[in-house]
Amino acid sequence: MPALFDGLSMRDCEIPNRIAVSPMCQYSCDRDGLPTEWHRVHLGSRAVGGAGIVLTEATAVEPRGRITGADLGIWSDEHAAALEPITDFVREQGAVPGIQLAHAGHKASKCPPSEGNLPLSPADGGWETLSPSPDAYPPFRGDRPAMKRASTDDIVDVIGAFRTAAERSLEAGFDIAEIHAAHGYLLHEFLSPVTNRREDEYGGSFENRTRLLREVTEEVRAVWPADKPLFVRISGTDWLEDRPSWDLEQSVRLADDLAGLGVDLIDVSSGSVHPDQEPPGGPNFQVPLAEAIRDGADIAVGAVGGITEPEQADAIVRNGRGDLVLVGREFLQDPYFGLHAADRLEDESADRWPVQYRRAVR
Ligand code: FNR
Repeated sequence: MPALFDGLSMRDCEIPNRIAVSPMCQYSCDRDGLPTEWHRVHLGSRAVGGAGIVLTEATAVEPRGRITGADLGIWSDEHAAALEPITDFVREQGAVPGIQLAHAGHKASKCPPSEGNLPLSPADGGWETLSPSPDAYPPFRGDRPAMKRASTDDIVDVIGAFRTAAERSLEAGFDIAEIHAAHGYLLHEFLSPVTNRREDEYGGSFENRTRLLREVTEEVRAVWPADKPLFVRISGTDWLEDRPSWDLEQSVRLADDLAGLGVDLIDVSSGSVHPDQEPPGGPNFQVPLAEAIRDGADIAVGAVGGITEPEQADAIVRNGRGDLVLVGREFLQDPYFGLHAADRLEDESADRWPVQYRRAVR
């Protein structure tokens, strides 16, 4: 089995180690989903800090797919041009730049967590959101934004938006694209019987509920070059055993289907589709989901959630529980988590400390 600091080759992409910065919304756009200096410094610092992959936050493929008005987007050439200096800098630091392509579905049109995370009413600049079945949702706190049942035309538009977003991601210089199909956002809403009550070809059976994600994946893969990896983030389970919901068994089956469509890695998160969920929490709490998908389907997996210690991350890779680890909050605490991990595990890639900082290295 490889170790945390062994490189990972995926298609023609050479990833220097198995540590990825997990996608994390920064709610820091001033205007129209365009990146700011904050994004450049935030993502750039983690590349300096020894991550093998630096993934952007959920980046909206169309304006109505933003969680908040301050989310990053990639729906125009201006977005691609503005993101390019960031991918250049990340690559110069030895990390692989990746983008998470997202549509927030019915969880769009909110104010940022720092302002309460409540749905925005139209009077406050809120917009109509899209969902598979508006009647399926639990009540929100606050004013509920208008919700539209996705029509066939909307579905065609969403698929097209993911495709053009992938084309623009390439122009922007990203080497990895990740489709966000987790956490109760649009693609997960279609996957889960909790939020999908449709009776057309996009609802009901496993085949039908997974259709939108499969169609999005096909379109993205068609324009995403054959030499570049494609990831998909899923919720491995809804953590709702008391009702028909999305579970690990379906995740394993989906992972095999996605492998057949040219997906290279499943990034295994969980939950967030319904407030009644009961996740166990704690260190490694999602790792068994990743491990089960790795064992049950013919595809690489990323493990994420509660991974904070270098030895813990290394053990996940060495024990074959994940092909890479994604680290979220610990990278907010410590932008240099990758370099500190290399120091602790006495890996020679501690040499990646930038020359500007070497006099500080103990
Ligand atoms: C997140 N998370 C997240 N997930 C995702 O797929 N897209 C996103 O844009 C975000 N945004 C986000 C923002 C912030 C501030 C946090 C803390 C988290 C979830 C994140 O990627 C990760 O899966 C979880 O945080 C669990 O990993 P950690 O933090 O325990 O390492």
